[in-house]
Amino acid sequence: MARIDFAPGGLNPPHTHPCGIEVLVVVEGTLLVGFVTSNELNNTLFTKVLYKGDVFVFPIGLIHFQLNIGNTYALSFSGLSSQNPGLITIANAVFGTKPPMSADVLTKAFQVDKKVVDYLQAQFWYDNN
Ligand SMILES: *[C@@H]1O[C@H](CO)[C@@H](O)[C@H](O)[C@H]1NC(C)=O
Repeated sequence: MARIDFAPGGLNPPHTHPCGIEVLVVVEGTLLVGFVTSNELNNTLFTKVLYKGDVFVFPIGLIHFQLNIGNTYALSFSGLSSQNPGLITIANAVFGTKPPMSADVLTKAFQVDKKVVDYLQAQFWYDNN
């Protein structure tokens, strides 16, 4: 299980659990949650605003997030279907790698200037554990 405490505006950034389904219960506050389907399903984004007492399921392996859109703190608990669900935070896994991923790869992948890539790679990608 995971407890997540959200400050107002707090974000659990896009991430995936490769080996676990997640069931989230909102205990306090208001969360905008969402997940994105696979390429085969056209990377469709599903979102929902959850209030106290609501429950949401994030399918296994899909990229998902939770954002506190309320004016107060929010609290949720998640159950995961594996003892070792894994965790890959997308921004960290792309722009926060050690050593840094080649700018040639990232400029082409994201169709942006090297300046943008340099900026993103210089950010502090926080530990999302
Ligand atoms: C994905 O997009 C293609 C092309 O627009 C479409 O033919 C297909 O039905 C879509 N698939 C799904 C699952 O929405």
